Amino acid sequence: MEKQQLALIIPAAGSGERLGGDVPKPYLKIAGKTILELSLLKFKQVPGLGEVIVSTSKNFMAQTEVLLNKIFPELKTYVVEGGKERQDSIRNALNKISGKTGLVAVHDAVRPFVAVVDIEKCVDEAARWGGAVLATRAKDTIKVSGPDLEIVQTPNRKNLWQAQTPQIFWAALIREAYDNAEKYNIYGSDDSSLVEQVGGKVVLVEGSDKNFKITYPLDLKIAEYLAKSGEL
Ligand code: CTP
Ligand code: MG
Repeated sequence: MEKQQLALIIPAAGSGERLGGDVPKPYLKIAGKTILELSLLKFKQVPGLGEVIVSTSKNFMAQTEVLLNKIFPELKTYVVEGGKERQDSIRNALNKISGKTGLVAVHDAVRPFVAVVDIEKCVDEAARWGGAVLATRAKDTIKVSGPDLEIVQTPNRKNLWQAQTPQIFWAALIREAYDNAEKYNIYGSDDSSLVEQVGGKVVLVEGSDKNFKITYPLDLKIAEYLAKSGEL
């Protein structure tokens, strides 16, 4: 199959409430670089990357433009203002993508340990099926709660996965999914759920726990430790 041009969307506009602190997570430094830069450097190694759009908050737009020009001097790059929810931030970025793009990858700014080979696997599977999501098998048994924290269901762990990013889709499909979500005011906790709503086929690609999302203070400690141990 002919390689399709890939656009990358990085949502980086969150306020990082669960982590706390003054600086938003993507702009904290580990190993001398911001977490956003480390994530971008992973995608720089992916063949076929044609454009990069970062969604961020107003105060960080200028700094992010400088960063994008430094890392991707040869690519088309844009910085857009984020929205209230992660989905709104991605919506704003999607509007920038050119018609030439065949595939769109969405990757959280705060997952700098993603393996380049895993991104490439997702690209290949998405090109083939319509969508692909990097994920790991659920490690713990997952419970569904009802009122008063009573357990109402224990789904079979064998079928349960934890979705990560990147999540990669045919450009036309993710556009359709976001248009549909906007029309019916649907908010999903990931991009795939919006694509699933419009009947798109999305497959799982088994990745690694190392691609965790820096969310809580403990995650940041683990990230610093991994960076020191040469895992980047
Ligand atoms: N994000 C975004 N726009 C938002 C919310 C989140 O672009 N309105 C981005 C974050 O910057 C992050 C990614 O989406 O890179 C994943 O979100 P999450 O880990 O939840 O980050 P925050 O929303 O910043 O953290 P918290 O939920 O703890 O406030
Ligand atoms: Mg959040």
